[in-house]
Amino acid sequence: MSNATLLLEGKEYALPVIAGVEKEIAIDISSLRAKSGAVTYDPGYGNTGSCSSAITFIDGERGILRYRGYPIEQIAEKASFVEVAYLLVYGELPTKVELATFSLNLTRHTLLQEDMKKFFEGFPNSAHPMGILSAMAASLSTYYPDTEKREPNIIRLLAKLPTIAAFSYKKSIGQPFIYPRNDLTYTQNFLQMMFAVPCEPYVVNETVDRVLNLLLILHADHEQNCSTSTVRMVGSSGANLFSAISAGISALWGPLHGGANQEVLEMLQNIRSEGGDVRKFVQMAKDKSSKFKLMGFGHRVYKNFDPRASILKKAADDVLASLHVSDPLLSIARELEDIALHDSYFMERKLYPNVDFYSGIIYRAIGIPTEMFTVMFALGRAPGWIAQWKEMVDDPTTRINRPRQIYTGARERAFVPIGERERTLVTA
Ligand code: ACO
Repeated sequence: MSNATLLLEGKEYALPVIAGVEKEIAIDISSLRAKSGAVTYDPGYGNTGSCSSAITFIDGERGILRYRGYPIEQIAEKASFVEVAYLLVYGELPTKVELATFSLNLTRHTLLQEDMKKFFEGFPNSAHPMGILSAMAASLSTYYPDTEKREPNIIRLLAKLPTIAAFSYKKSIGQPFIYPRNDLTYTQNFLQMMFAVPCEPYVVNETVDRVLNLLLILHADHEQNCSTSTVRMVGSSGANLFSAISAGISALWGPLHGGANQEVLEMLQNIRSEGGDVRKFVQMAKDKSSKFKLMGFGHRVYKNFDPRASILKKAADDVLASLHVSDPLLSIARELEDIALHDSYFMERKLYPNVDFYSGIIYRAIGIPTEMFTVMFALGRAPGWIAQWKEMVDDPTTRINRPRQIYTGARERAFVPIGERERTLVTA
């Protein structure tokens, strides 16, 4: 291991340099404060490695994404979502027997405790399904409090999230809940819980099932993003799996993260309802005073292209064609992408479409309502969160996550009793 030398106020400090298997290097500053009194400053953690991980590799400059070493393009073409979930959580691709056992276990744990159904009665009909998903994931910890039962709890979580998600949708449209069916696969079962009605037989459309697998796979992990870091942060205190994942769901909800897929579709609809003038919106995105951003564009890590977006762009064409859906929003999305990719503002800042740019159009084509888009992201990301949580718990070097700060508030001052405080009231 080599060292980096830091010169600070005339003194030299040797800091170890560590390298990953793909030769990315990091300066280990964990001893810096003890040696020098200084901390590092990196708001938004854009340049901070918070852990070492063997799950997902991303090279943002070259547009590379691999799960456990396997390129996303190959996984997307050949694997099922359940296979990918196994790969992420347990580290290797499953054998036939392992996959069959894992699938069976997932099938056997899809039911919610009947009591839990009452929770849905308490939520307003207008409740956002992400709020419900996060609350219900946390409440699983009250039904399965035994943290020693890690493996069963992992299975329970993966198996029950689609049921919770589908129930939250049924609640929002006032239809009866559709119970899970054990003769169906993970994705088929989710589709029937979403779209079946008690009075009619439901047949799963093969194209829809295939593309749902693809979408979930592409969202399954993305190393230390905002929600995954949240899962690790919460989990690092020793909080249980369900609480950590519930926190991750909440983090994902934000419009700068997973919530962007809903925002993209709303943006495209907005462009259309305002007459389809794409250039006007591109102009607005460049104007900092407008606060408007092109949703689905830009990424903290990808500075070339997001390989997931490339796969989804092609999938959007194929799925819409094979389902005979013609969506004017797809043409708007294509035009927007084309204009932005040739505009110097976006080129200079290396802003490209991200995974959320085309996913909404596909979800729409397969009948998933806009408010459920981020929930779909959460279902896909669940195995990644679980794998990252498990890796953190198993890592003997894990400490409670606790960043430092640079304090910029008032210096010490004497407390003023309430009767002696005066402040000029500013009225609008
Ligand atoms: N539209 C217009 N300008 C943008 C956009 C955008 N979508 N994204 C970034 N920029 C600009 C910024 O204003 C900034 O400009 P400046 O240098 O003149 O100040 C520059 O590009 C760099 O962007 P940052 O915000 O500093 O990049 P950061 O890494 O902090 O943020 C993020 C990344 C949050 C993804 C951002 O690009 C964004 O808000 N995109 C839109 C929301 C989105 O699609 N989120 C989904 C991300 S993928 C995911 O989570 C699954």
